Amino acid sequence: MKEDKKQVGELFDSISLKYDFLNHFLSFNIDKKWRKKAVKVLSSKKEKLLDVATGTCDLAIEVLRQGKAEQIVGVDLSKGMLEKGQEKINKLNLNRNITLLKEDCQNLSFEDNSFDSAMVGFGVRNFNDLDKGLKEIFRVLKPKGEFVVLEFSKPKYKIILYFYNIYLNKLLPLIGRLFSKHIYAYTYLPNTIKEFIYGQEFIDKLKEIGFENATTKELTFGVATIYKSIKP
Ligand SMILES: C[S@@+](CC[C@H](N)C(=O)[O-])C[C@H]1O[C@@H](n2cnc3c(N)ncnc32)[C@H](O)[C@@H]1O
Repeated sequence: MKEDKKQVGELFDSISLKYDFLNHFLSFNIDKKWRKKAVKVLSSKKEKLLDVATGTCDLAIEVLRQGKAEQIVGVDLSKGMLEKGQEKINKLNLNRNITLLKEDCQNLSFEDNSFDSAMVGFGVRNFNDLDKGLKEIFRVLKPKGEFVVLEFSKPKYKIILYFYNIYLNKLLPLIGRLFSKHIYAYTYLPNTIKEFIYGQEFIDKLKEIGFENATTKELTFGVATIYKSIKP
């Protein structure tokens, strides 16, 4: 897995043109609702929000739509994903509110205590070094800053887990391959979902980094989870 993760920027470059379409198609558009719910858990409007692993910027755009931040900085490793995001920002005329930077979140260029809040949507499981990424986010957040993570998890009910596994192991790679021709990418993605920590284990990780008051909200039978925590 570590070897795979080294190439994560290139991997997302290779699927960036089809990413949005496949995301919505493979999730039956549920991903849009999940992002809305994740943004909703942020408290009232803040000045500056960091969207880590912003990809094609759907989460950043949703933050603005819900009026949860004045200024958003989106960072991502993948030039291809950022270019797709920039196209959307240009189209929606949001250049004054959203700034995109090609950065590795494990080594951010920002000063300590720079942001009022931070989010990661479907990104943490791709970090090469989860601890390093989370520590950097902790560092750049202001005290009392909110941190919201939206990530895949595993359904609790056995019957749902059964169908979910068929979907993840068979259907998702097949559809991904058909549409994107990137066989490796759509085998890698389900693997990251299967192997990533979730629920209490992820809460423990947040606590270990220093975050406090961690809460969770399960979505769609636990297929995804929203984690909210605070930098003390
Ligand atoms: C599944 S996409 C999620 C994109 C977007 N947040 C969304 O909600 O659709 C994961 C993104 O994480 C980015 N990523 C992975 N590791 C990263 C890192 N260390 N630093 C910055 N971005 C990273 C990838 O390039 C990719 O664009």
